[in-house]
Amino acid sequence: MNDSPSSVAVSQKKSTQESAALGRPAGPCAMVIFGASGDLTQRKLIPALMNLSRDNLLPRDFAVIGLSRRPISDQEFRRKMGDALREADDLQPDLWEKLQPRLFYMSGDLHEPATFAALRDRLHHFDREFKTAGNYLFYLSTAPDLFGPAIERLGESGLTKEENGRWRRVIIEKPFGRDLESARTLNHQLREVLQESQIYRIDHYLGKETVQNILVFRFANGIFEPLWNRRYIDHVQITVAEQVGVEDRGAYYDTAGALRDMVPNHLFQLVALIGMEPPPSLDADAIRDEQVKVFRSIRPYSLDDVSQLVVRGQYDKGMINGKPVPAYREEPKVPRDSHTETFAALKLEINNWRWADVPFYLRTGKRLARRHTEIVIQFRRAPHLLFRNTAITACQANQLVLSIQPEEGVSLRFGAKIPGPVVQLGGVTMDFDYAQRFGNRPSTGYERLLYDCMIGDPTLFRRADMSELGWAIVEPILKSWEKQGNDGLMKYPAGSWGPEAANELLAHDGRHWRELEECK
Ligand code: BG6
Repeated sequence: MNDSPSSVAVSQKKSTQESAALGRPAGPCAMVIFGASGDLTQRKLIPALMNLSRDNLLPRDFAVIGLSRRPISDQEFRRKMGDALREADDLQPDLWEKLQPRLFYMSGDLHEPATFAALRDRLHHFDREFKTAGNYLFYLSTAPDLFGPAIERLGESGLTKEENGRWRRVIIEKPFGRDLESARTLNHQLREVLQESQIYRIDHYLGKETVQNILVFRFANGIFEPLWNRRYIDHVQITVAEQVGVEDRGAYYDTAGALRDMVPNHLFQLVALIGMEPPPSLDADAIRDEQVKVFRSIRPYSLDDVSQLVVRGQYDKGMINGKPVPAYREEPKVPRDSHTETFAALKLEINNWRWADVPFYLRTGKRLARRHTEIVIQFRRAPHLLFRNTAITACQANQLVLSIQPEEGVSLRFGAKIPGPVVQLGGVTMDFDYAQRFGNRPSTGYERLLYDCMIGDPTLFRRADMSELGWAIVEPILKSWEKQGNDGLMKYPAGSWGPEAANELLAHDGRHWRELEECK
C-alpha cells in the first residue's frame, strides 16, 4: 500500500463519502475526552455515543478514554456516566450494557508530558485489545486555557502523527478564543502541531437537524431559491432566546457575555447558511468557501456604528414560569457590579448583490420569556395593494419561519380570503412539523458531529478562517463596549423579551420582531 499523505487523503475522502452516503458504522478508532469530568461528557458526549450505537453507526472496534485531573477508577467513571444518563432519563439499558465496557478513565495533568506518555501506552493497548487500528479522535473539552498546553504536549508525544494510513483528529470545543487576537494565537498553536485537515472546531448548532435542514431546504427545492434575494426579501430576523440564566457558569460567563458566547459562532453560522450562495458541490470546502464569502461581505462596524446598530442588556430580577428569579448580578460567581451583557441584538448588512439593503437582525439572550430559536424570512409586501379596503393588519407580507428549537419545523404565512360574502383577508400558515412528520428520536445534536469526525468529514465544522472572520466582525463591538463600561447597558426584567432598545432597533427602520407569543 502506498501511504503517502496524498494517497491517505484520497482514500480517506473516498471512504468518508461512502460511509456518509450509506450510513454505515465508522471505521475502527479510539476516542479520548480531555476534561471528561466536565458536564459535556455526561450530558452530551456519552448519550451521543449511545445514540450512535442505536443507529448502528458507532465503530465496531471502539473504545473511549476519559481524562481529567481527578483520580477515579474506570468503574467509578462508568458509574458516574450511568447515573447521569439515568437522571436525565437517557439510559437505554441494552445499548449502555454494550458501551459501558468500552469506557475507561485515567487521571492526569495536561501540562505534564508523563500524562501523554501514559495515554500513548493506553491507546496502544487499546489498539491490541479493541483493534482500534491506531486511529485516534481527541476531544478537547477542557477549560480554554488548557487547549494550548494540551495540543503542544499531544504533538510532542507523537500522538498527532498520521502515518501508515492511520488518522489522528482533534475536536476542539468553544470558546475558540475570546477575540480576534486570541483566536489567531490558538489557530497558530494548533497549526504548529496539526494539519488543518486534522482540526475539527465544533459548533454544536451545526449538529442540530433543523440547522442542517436549511441547506436542504434551500438547495434541494427549486421554488425557494428564486425568491431568496433582495428583490423579494425585506429583511431576515434570527432569534436565539434562552429561558435559563447563567446557572453554575457565572465565572466563565462573566468573562464572555452574550455576544462572545453566542454571536460569532452560533448566530453567524445561521447567517451563513441563510446568506450563502449555492455551493458547486457538497464537498466540505465548497460549502465552507461559500460561507466564508458571506462573512467577508458583512459590512464592518465602525466604533460609531455600535451605539446605533447594536444593543446590549443585562437581566434584572423578574419572573420565569410564575416564579421569581434573581438578577444576573445576584447569580453565583458574578461580581455585584458586573457590566457583562446577557442579551445582545444587532443589525447586520451583507454587502453583496444578493443581500444589499436587506438587513439581518439578530438577537440572543438569557432569561427571556421562553426558549425559542427561529429564523424569519420576511418577504416584501405585494407591489400593488389590490385589497386595500380590507383591514390593513390582515394584509401582512408573507413570512417564512424556520423554527429551530424547541419547536422544529417550517411554516409559511400567506393571506387568504376569510369565507363569507364580504372580502376579508386573514393570515394563515402552511406548517411542516418535524416531530409530527418524522417522530421524535432522542438526540443530543452531537451524534452527527462525532460520526462525521470519525469518518473524516469536516463539512459541519468551522475552518480557521471562519472563526477568525467571526471574531473580526464583532471586534469593534467588543472594543466599544469595553470603553463604555456600564454606559449603554440596558436592564431588562427576567422573563421579558429583552430591553426596549432591541425593539427600537427595528422600529427605527419601520419594522418589528415577530411576535413570539403568537407561536403555536
Ligand atoms: C453554548 C453557550 O454554546 O450554547 C451557552 O455557551 C448556551 O451559554 C448554549 O446556553 C445554547 O445552546 P442550545 O443548544 O441550548 O441552544
